[in-house]
Parts: sequence; C-alpha cells; structure tokens
Amino acid sequence: MNLLIMGLPGAGKGTQAAKIVDKFHVAHISTGDMFRAAMANQTEMGVLAKSYIDKGELVPDEVTNGIVKERLAQDDIKAHGFLLDGYPRTIEQAHALDETLASLGIELEGVINIQVDPASLLERLSGRIIHKETGETFHKVFNPPAGDYNEEDYYQREDDKPETVKRRLDVNIAQGEPIIEHYRAKGLVHDIEGNQEIDTVFADIEKVLTKLQ
Ligand code: AP5
Ligand code: MG
Repeated sequence: MNLLIMGLPGAGKGTQAAKIVDKFHVAHISTGDMFRAAMANQTEMGVLAKSYIDKGELVPDEVTNGIVKERLAQDDIKAHGFLLDGYPRTIEQAHALDETLASLGIELEGVINIQVDPASLLERLSGRIIHKETGETFHKVFNPPAGDYNEEDYYQREDDKPETVKRRLDVNIAQGEPIIEHYRAKGLVHDIEGNQEIDTVFADIEKVLTKLQ
C-alpha cells in the first residue's frame, strides 16, 4: 500500500505509523526523522535543517522534495509500499509528490488524516519522551513506558519547547488545509478521530487499511 499519514504536530502520526508498519509492513518515511538523523550526524543538510527546525519553521521545499524523491526511488518501495509521515506539508510539496510518483509509476492509495483538537497538542508535545536506545515514542502521562522507568534513558525533542511548539502549530495550521483539499478532490482522504486512546485510534485506522488492502 502507498499511503500518507497527515495531522498537526502531536496528532500521533509517528505513534500510529509505528503500529501501521508493524501490521502492514510498509516502509515508514518520516521527513522529520530524516532531518533529525542528518542533524545528529551534522551533515550539511542537517545543519541547514536545524536552522529552520529549531525555530519551528519548515525546511525549504527544494531540500525536502529532494530527499523524499531519493527515498521513494529505492527498491524496497515498489515491493512493500510506503507510509509518508510529515510530507507533504505545503501545497508545492503535494504537487512535487504527484510528479515524483508519476515519474516512478507509483500510485497513491490513501491518506490517513488524524484530526485532533489543537488545544490538546501542547500537552501532548510537552509530555513526549523518546527512548534513547530504540527511538520509541512515549508520553509521561498518556503513554508511559512500562514499569518503573529511568528518566535518563529518555530525551525530549529540542523543538518540543512551548515557544517552538506554538510556531510549529501556526505554520502547520496555515499550510495544511489546501493539502487535504487536494487529496479530498481525488477521493483519497480517510478522516480519523484522533482524540481517543492510542489503541482506539489505531483500530479505526486498521479498519480503513484492511479495506484498502
Ligand atoms: P516532524 O518530526 O514531522 O514533527 P511534527 O509534524 O511537528 O509532528 P510530531 O512528530 O511532533 O508529532 P506526531 O504527529 O508524530 O506525534 P507523536 O506520534 O510523536 O517535523 C519536525 C520538523 O521538521 C518540522 O517542524 C519542520 O521544521 C521539519 N520538517 C519535517 N517535515 C517537513 C516537510 N515536509 N517540509 C518542511 N519541513 C519539514 O505523538 C506526540 C505525543 O503524543 C507523544 O508523546 C505520544 O505518546 C502522544 N500521543 C500520541 N497519540 C496519542 C493519543 N491518541 N492520546 C494521547 N497521547 C497521544
Ligand atoms: Mg512524528
């Protein structure tokens, strides 16, 4: 299956993507994760990306379109399908993705749109913790790690500071609607209620994907 997962920062894209990959074995392509890996390795692209991400701004389209195109051209994509997380994030990126997929002979089959009340997102992002060793995402209150856990084994994302989160939300709210409309017009969008328990959100996504398969 060739899929997008969309939603505001903190909507649960990464959390649900991990479950979708487990069950449906598609390749998870998160532009945010790709940028964070490049930042950790201090590559030229990573240094450039950091200057935008730390302010809650979007990385320029030409950079982002380039890394996605390169990834989608790899062999595993045609064999297993993909789940793009956090891309496209501007209408220009949506048009670039249409062109990339057409040039590769790949068809997009569905868009999972997780809808969450923006008021709850700050709480989700400020409580997010990520396991250093596995990269697995948790939440201090809503999805704590099992048992007595050691806080030192977890970190918080630099861009989860309240000032940065506010800017990320503004930027994403402003850019998001035309993208969803673009895909709605193609009949690809499946709206998912994101203000529910993590497992209930996944059960709703699973129903949609089982039908699509
Ligand atoms: P990116 O990494 O994509 O961040 P984002 O879109 O801001 O989304 P998040 O990863 O913060 O949230 P999520 O929806 O994955 O939520 P999660 O599952 O972790 O991008 C980061 C930056 O990179 C961007 O700001 C931009 O600068 C740059 N960038 C990336 N892509 C780009 C692009 N295409 N173009 C330009 N620039 C780009 O969940 C959040 C928390 O909530 C967790 O703690 C989780 O445990 C908890 N949670 C999840 N679901 C639930 C639930 N149902 N109930 C309660 N808690 C929940
Ligand atoms: Mg994410």
